[in-house]
Amino acid sequence: MSLPDANLPYSFTDATHEVTITDPRTPSPWINYLSNGTLHAFVSQAGGGLLWWKSAYSMRLTRYRHVVSPMDGPGFYLWIKDIDGQVWSPSWRPAMTELEDFSCTHRPGSTTFRATKGNLTAILHLWIADDNAMVWELDLEGQDSEVDVFAMVEISQMDWSSEANWGYYCRHMHQVKNNPEVGGPVYFSHHGHHFRLKEIPLMALTTDGQFDSFDGSRDEFYGPYGSENLPAALTQGRCSNSELTSGEPCLAGHRRITLKGGTGHAKFFLHLEPNTLADFPGTLQAAVDRAARLRDPHWLASQKVKSEEWWRSRIEAFRTDYPDVDIARMANTWGSLQCIQTGRYSRAVSASAPGVRGVGFRDTAQDMVSVATMDPGWARETLLLLLRHQYQDGHALHYLYPNDPLPPVTSVHCDNHLWLPFAAYAITAESGDPTWLSQKVPYYDGEGEGVTVLEHLRQALRFTDGNLGSHGLPLIYRSDWNDIIGKFSQEGRGESVMAAMQYVVAAGKVQELCGFVGESSDEIEAGIAKMRQAIEQHCWDGEWWIRAFDDDGHPIGSAKNEFGKIWLNSQTWSVLAEVGTREQQIQAMDSVHRLLGTEVGLRKLAPGFATYPHVTDAFSGYGPGCGENGAVFCHAHAWAVMAEAQLGRPDQAWKLYRQLVPHLALQKVGLKRYSSEPYAFVSNIVGPESIHFGWANVSQITGAATWMHVALTQDLLGVKARLGGLQFSPVLEAGVTGYSVERVFRGEKHRFTV
Ligand code: GLC
Repeated sequence: MSLPDANLPYSFTDATHEVTITDPRTPSPWINYLSNGTLHAFVSQAGGGLLWWKSAYSMRLTRYRHVVSPMDGPGFYLWIKDIDGQVWSPSWRPAMTELEDFSCTHRPGSTTFRATKGNLTAILHLWIADDNAMVWELDLEGQDSEVDVFAMVEISQMDWSSEANWGYYCRHMHQVKNNPEVGGPVYFSHHGHHFRLKEIPLMALTTDGQFDSFDGSRDEFYGPYGSENLPAALTQGRCSNSELTSGEPCLAGHRRITLKGGTGHAKFFLHLEPNTLADFPGTLQAAVDRAARLRDPHWLASQKVKSEEWWRSRIEAFRTDYPDVDIARMANTWGSLQCIQTGRYSRAVSASAPGVRGVGFRDTAQDMVSVATMDPGWARETLLLLLRHQYQDGHALHYLYPNDPLPPVTSVHCDNHLWLPFAAYAITAESGDPTWLSQKVPYYDGEGEGVTVLEHLRQALRFTDGNLGSHGLPLIYRSDWNDIIGKFSQEGRGESVMAAMQYVVAAGKVQELCGFVGESSDEIEAGIAKMRQAIEQHCWDGEWWIRAFDDDGHPIGSAKNEFGKIWLNSQTWSVLAEVGTREQQIQAMDSVHRLLGTEVGLRKLAPGFATYPHVTDAFSGYGPGCGENGAVFCHAHAWAVMAEAQLGRPDQAWKLYRQLVPHLALQKVGLKRYSSEPYAFVSNIVGPESIHFGWANVSQITGAATWMHVALTQDLLGVKARLGGLQFSPVLEAGVTGYSVERVFRGEKHRFTV
């Protein structure tokens, strides 16, 4: 197996929403998320991965070493010892034995490995059942024989940071005992340092037959200085039946499987019962009952249908037969799938993010814009949660931890609250039902039942109205959408042009919502006019819009500056907000292409800051071309697609969309350099000012998911949910003569044809 770029190690099967990876040695973990809504996992193409319950911050059930090399372990490990004594894994890792044939297929909600070694083929299918279990289904095909199969996960101490600090004491607070009634090794914890002690789940590894041996001690399983490639248990041909009251826990089970008529089968269930210490006997009994249910093939089959239907109904809310396969594939599968992942995990957990980040207010408000099109109920509940984290003065928390009793991040940012109207509009348009706008929701710092949803939105605008700087633009505070822009406002007087433009769009949405329920919006109208005037009066630089004013009123993002002369967002948002003349908007976007364009997308700013304001005071810590300092920023790039579509320049808009299609970008950059999944957008691609130009970073959990999907399905393919119904306004590219779209909307399927 090698990775010549001309021969890419993956292919797509669009009808079944699948990607199949044919070489496990990808340059970085290429993951898929499995979930039932509370029990979640990600699994890589090589079987690495993490399982967590509700919160990857405090309820990490298994271990994944995010920061160390070698990468991508541990995970959902399975070893086979075949009749010839060869040890191998259907997911290649951890055994890493050379395989004759290998594939990993990721699809919404499940992953399947298929591998052949000698005469034996193993198919391992992983998914998460509603019944709080991760299910491993193993099918073996080959000559009639007996093979030994070992399934194993390393157990985490649940709280990632406490494990780093206190792991050496807390390791004496865990137990793994074999429990014949449950049917396998059972883990529970008296983890004294865990701030959610009582909620720690009991976990069990069970199977649809009988285990021949088991281990509860990781170190017994691997043996002293043993390796993941060839654990002691595999050398011995069985586990040591180790129980554990102190040490590093694992759940490992071994079965001897007999192949008859050329096939053999085994299922493994990794299941949990929350709140172990609150009611230990009750929880143990629940585990016994759950294991029995999972062993029942009819129950399991019905669970599988339920899981598949959950994913299918959301992914297939939008379907197109667009004649370009890369476009249709993104619209029909990977675009919407990634929106579900960001909707669930915000920016917190992936193969590179360890889960400590909680729910970003601005991030999640934006994510709900796309979630609303697939699952408006989920989007509405999430938005109500966010509204409960808005202050009476209208601004909002920055980060919250709805699944953890942790203090939120309370820094003030000028944009967080301004994303609420985007989600509220999308949710209302999707259902057509205005009644939820009059539902009362308390403020974060308020008392009683609070104010209506619509009043929350109005108050968000009022916060901005009341906190303007000397040019009449929103004061930046800690930041606007761009995390690092606060650098220019350390004394609190800096102003954001992007937030001003964002305000105009947000206020327009609130105004429409007011009209929908018959409320006056004169106050909003006046606010918009004032903001528009401030922008037009102060922010035009000659060929583009400036990005901000610093504390001393100097423009940032001006031709006069040495670094960061032009920034992407104030150009794109001038179009989205329709500020300035059409000529100015066109000139601004033309400047974008000229000064920010690269082969793989638009840089967020250029030139990257080498110093600001002085070498002793770095601009952001990011080197030029990296991260926030001049990388191709995919989230911001998506707004350029929308801006070009709204300007009516289809060639530009389609070109920009295609640039970031992960599979196309990977081919352009080269597999090794690009590194990330060919089926998920990344946060950023390192820009040309860096030696790593083309390296795609922070995949899966990025605001690019929602906005690239909105740009494609709404702005380009043209199906937009409006308060009055569905609107179809496609932006046709040259050479495309026709296509159709099916969209589920307000409970019915609608079909549009060009
Ligand atoms: C990251 C953050 C997001 C922010 C963006 C731009 O993606 O998660 O909150 O808006 O960077 O700074």
